[in-house]
Amino acid sequence: AMRSACPVQSVPAGSGGRANYLVTGYAEAREALNDSRLSKDTSAFFAGKESRRRLHPAVSHTMLASDPPRHTRLRKLVTKELTTGAVKQLRPFIARTTDELLDQWPVGGPLDFVARLAVPLPVIVICELLGVPQADRSAVQRWSAELFAAGEPDVIDAASHALAGYMADLIAAKRLAPGSSLLDRLISARDGEDRLSEEELVSLAVLLLVAGHETTTNALGNALLALLQHPGVLDRLRGNPDEVAAALDELLRFDSAVSMATFRFTTEAVTLGGTEIPAGVPVLVALGAANRDPARFPEPDHLDLDRDAAAHLAFGHGIHRCVGAPLALAEVEIALRAVLTRFPGIRLAVPPDRLEWRRTRLVRGLASL
Ligand code: HEM
Repeated sequence: AMRSACPVQSVPAGSGGRANYLVTGYAEAREALNDSRLSKDTSAFFAGKESRRRLHPAVSHTMLASDPPRHTRLRKLVTKELTTGAVKQLRPFIARTTDELLDQWPVGGPLDFVARLAVPLPVIVICELLGVPQADRSAVQRWSAELFAAGEPDVIDAASHALAGYMADLIAAKRLAPGSSLLDRLISARDGEDRLSEEELVSLAVLLLVAGHETTTNALGNALLALLQHPGVLDRLRGNPDEVAAALDELLRFDSAVSMATFRFTTEAVTLGGTEIPAGVPVLVALGAANRDPARFPEPDHLDLDRDAAAHLAFGHGIHRCVGAPLALAEVEIALRAVLTRFPGIRLAVPPDRLEWRRTRLVRGLASL
């Protein structure tokens, strides 16, 4: 309703703050994500403002919360680790892990897909990539979930310190006994003549860990739910598992894991979609709304594997477009293929309106399925 009324509009900020601007149209969302006058740098926005938040700086000042040149420098190091070619090497590990998790599924009874595959698979994969020892994975996953949940600020702040402290210790241990993980390579990476600073390393490790599984977990649940609610599409993929890879764009468009918003801050006054936005205010880009904009995707509420959905914004757009997209796509493809092949009779155990969604601020995902 907001999108058809006005695709860029101000919304109350609450507690006396200045209005936020919400972008819900596809064209306007792309434009916003491409506009260098919209900054990701939260530290510039919050500078001088009274804040009760005590987030660890490595969590609040990540690459994702940076503008060029800092962003460019950090992103360059990570991009080459996560190309489609690099991810190819990981595919056998992802497939093996998926199979091991599915081996533990009860045959014939109800089970929670989120707990039994969507959460553990991405956690195991990103921890393997970063070289996080197996014994630490559940603690790391808990802190990460607390960071994302719309919980008490104190819990979120404490989780940020726990995670950053853990990563600092892990990096120190790897300096003493180097291994072959992505984190080891970042530790020894040279960018020009500069190595990454300790703070940059911790912040990259935390970002990769958190971004590397929370969103993929949600994407897996959302995609399977979409299939279970569209029996024709489910049948088609069950009969042709090779089509799963080509279906991913449409599944991600249809129910985007980073759905509610990704935000930016105006560094100067900007006119977007005909709306004037003043300097120094938050702009929230609602990727889920943009992906259902009928002006870009006709009949957007229809899950249609035959449409060209490649231009979806589920991974964002512009310089911050998801650097982990090749890995995420590999995980979702391998997992969905395996589930449809090994459990062809899979169906919803509860009516869709009884499904529980996670209470989170920016992402959209099921608490259980
Ligand atoms: C950035 C979505 C999986 C790492 C982003 C952004 C989106 C996104 C929308 C851009 C946010 C913005 O512009 O504000 C997703 C979705 C995923 C997924 C839907 C799963 C289906 C992953 C994985 C990794 C990852 C598996 C890591 C291996 C990152 C990083 C950034 C990012 C590091 C920041 C990029 C930058 O600032 O340049 N992701 N992501 N993501 N994602 Fe993902």
